[in-house]
Amino acid sequence: MMQAILLCGGSGTRLWPLSRKCYPKQFAKLMGDESLFQISARRLSGPEFAAPIIVTGDPFRFIVTEQLAQVEMTAQAILIEPDGRNTAPAIIAAALYVAQTDPQALMLVAPSDHVIPDCDAFAQTVQAAVPRAQAGDLVTFGITPTRAETGYGYLELAADADATAKSPQPLARFIEKPDGPTATAMLEGGNFLWNAGIFLFTAQAIIDAYHTHAPDLISAVTAALNGADSDLGFTRLEAEAWGQADDISVDYAIMEKADNLAVMPFAAGWSDLGGWDAVWLESGPDTAGNVCSDNATAIDCAGTLLRSETDGLQLVGIGLDNIIAVAMGDAVLVADKSQAQRVKEAVDALKKRD
Ligand code: GDD
Ligand code: MG
Repeated sequence: MMQAILLCGGSGTRLWPLSRKCYPKQFAKLMGDESLFQISARRLSGPEFAAPIIVTGDPFRFIVTEQLAQVEMTAQAILIEPDGRNTAPAIIAAALYVAQTDPQALMLVAPSDHVIPDCDAFAQTVQAAVPRAQAGDLVTFGITPTRAETGYGYLELAADADATAKSPQPLARFIEKPDGPTATAMLEGGNFLWNAGIFLFTAQAIIDAYHTHAPDLISAVTAALNGADSDLGFTRLEAEAWGQADDISVDYAIMEKADNLAVMPFAAGWSDLGGWDAVWLESGPDTAGNVCSDNATAIDCAGTLLRSETDGLQLVGIGLDNIIAVAMGDAVLVADKSQAQRVKEAVDALKKRD
């Protein structure tokens, strides 16, 4: 049995104005009737998984319990971070918690901002990676890159690896969020996969990796867990110790440094809904390339996303080309689709005005 760990403490600023500080993108219904968090939780609800451990921030704790109940799931535990310090502290908190009962337990760590349409293919891929993780490796999942994306991590396959294999392959290197020219060179080089942001390892293997590569971080988080208190089913990590942990992602803190990495290629379809351009693409544009919500109408538009998020608020676009328009009751975004990754600048600009 695997222990599913769901990370859902991120802020998702590139999906403003739907994604908000108090209600970030993973909890919003971006596509269809379920939130990305609910879809991610259900993906990890098969018989091979124990009830998930959720790691999130204090403001989101009741959203988590409510959204889990809506999909008829309960959590094994909900770990509450006093403040968001990125994924490295979140993951080691979960690993230390799991190791209290079983250090050899297998942990599947998953983000909550992804679309993976084929759940069965995903489950099979995870199963195929189990022996490698049990042997003590840190297993990543690799996606065939289709563009020189700078928002992802890249996995460089070892010389003897096969990117199309259905078994874990050796990795030469992990490169997190390269600059544009490096991403282009890696895309053209051919022997790189994108890091899906999903990891499989034993609790002990990841704890060992932190002891080697991030000893201060693991001691801060150990103290935060030892000092944790439980109320209403939430495990609250102790704030002062937690505040000593570096604010850093697991990709930089551990994966770029570890030498016991493997990659399980995954070819069945994957997308990080990181920005409105990805939402447009994954929502299945019509023949003119448009995606319109209820209450939105496109006239002579092409490649355009029109979303009205408020009942009765009509949004109409005329003659638009590659535009994103998202209208909420209290905020409207209008952007060129090619600039979708810059939406976080809107959030920064508004913060400065506050
Ligand atoms: N609990 C908790 N606390 N969760 C967090 C925190 C935190 O402080 N920060 C982020 N998360 C959650 C997010 O909600 C998301 O589900 C997941 O962790 C990943 O964080 P992102 O901020 O979305 O990471 P990223 O997309 O920039 O990069 C990661 O994912 C890419 C693929 O989507 C990296 O692993 C890349 O290497 C990878 O390619
Ligand atoms: Mg992400």
